[in-house]
Amino acid sequence: MLRLSAHPSGRHFLQIPGPTNVPDRVLRAIDHATIDHRGPEFGELGKAVLAGMQKVMKTEGHVVIYPASGTGAWEAALVNALSDNDLVLMAETGHFATLWKNMAEHLGLRVEFLPGDWRRAADVEAIAARLRADRNREIKAVCVVHNETATGVTSDIQAVRDAIDRAGHPALLMVDTISSLGSIDYRHDEWGVDVTVAGSQKGLMLPPGLSFNAISAKALAASQKNTLRRSYWDWHAMIASNATGYFPYTPATNLLYGLHEALDMLFTEGLETVFERHKRHAEATRRAVRAWGLEILCADPERYSPSLTAVMMPEGHSADAFRKAVLEHFNMSLGQGLTKVKDKVFRIGHLGDINDLTVCGTLSGVEMGLQIAGVPHQTGGVQAALEYLTDVAEVRSRPLG
Ligand SMILES: Cc1ncc(COP(=O)(O)O)c(C=O)c1O
Repeated sequence: MLRLSAHPSGRHFLQIPGPTNVPDRVLRAIDHATIDHRGPEFGELGKAVLAGMQKVMKTEGHVVIYPASGTGAWEAALVNALSDNDLVLMAETGHFATLWKNMAEHLGLRVEFLPGDWRRAADVEAIAARLRADRNREIKAVCVVHNETATGVTSDIQAVRDAIDRAGHPALLMVDTISSLGSIDYRHDEWGVDVTVAGSQKGLMLPPGLSFNAISAKALAASQKNTLRRSYWDWHAMIASNATGYFPYTPATNLLYGLHEALDMLFTEGLETVFERHKRHAEATRRAVRAWGLEILCADPERYSPSLTAVMMPEGHSADAFRKAVLEHFNMSLGQGLTKVKDKVFRIGHLGDINDLTVCGTLSGVEMGLQIAGVPHQTGGVQAALEYLTDVAEVRSRPLG
């Protein structure tokens, strides 16, 4: 028998910024006999989850669901809406923006990558200036990661839209919401986004394996005349089948049962309440980090991420050694620093199916880990979080969770 590790007591704390903990209700829903994906029951499920995704992405337009990780939905966005050699403007917010940029180049697009220092949001003024200078309207799309999972910085999508409009530029706006959808306020239609990219394994509280595009009428029209080749990712085949709740190929049936349940949970709690919960847990986490005397990677308090916090290690200390100590001693996984910030930061995920005690348990594990790994810090981070979470006026102002 395959024995991956001895089973430790208690439950594992999966506090990476996705995949997140899958609630029991969702696990139970996935644990369902697989049905005929061309039979009558499936069509009802398909229609229900597509309608639910429109609601969560805040769009009346088409949403498509791929049996793929988020990377698949990135590719779908680019190959459906763009043509060979098109110029796209992307903002370097961090590791994930860089991966999306690399993909665009591999697909034969030309990319202008607006530089960033991985501590700030997409530079809206730089985007506006570049679009104004583009008199020949060569730029076909502006691509921004809403919540950069590598850094814990959230970009202002409404402001990017305004910048495009102020420049009177026809470029499409494409937004990656993989670590924001279902955790941070997001409005596809109202913010005039043309293609939204999302994934199942973060705010939607599902295992990895599903990803999404929400598509504006303008993006759909662009996809009719573009020249980039695609087959599996083709929106049109999907949309045609989806009209009756079906898919052009075998869908991830059981994950769709899970999606149905997760959407029900989100709508029962209420999206606004979900967003407030994430903001509150993020604030509790930041208070703990400051009390430890550590620095938050995000350098702009206006753009702090509600779904994760990246913490900088003191000079000369290894973030990976610290994470290893936390895993070994407390059975908790924290997010690692990626590429440019490898071993320099660790990331605390506070998104998905979490509550006050999950956050307190997580912060306790971090504080004990700092001690055990010999990382210089002050104690009192957990206490600072507890004080914030039990602030009587604040707690009384909220409905019971
Ligand atoms: C913001 C962002 N974009 C894209 C991806 C890639 O998604 P996946 O790993 O599901 O393919 C991730 C993964 O964490 C992400 O956080």
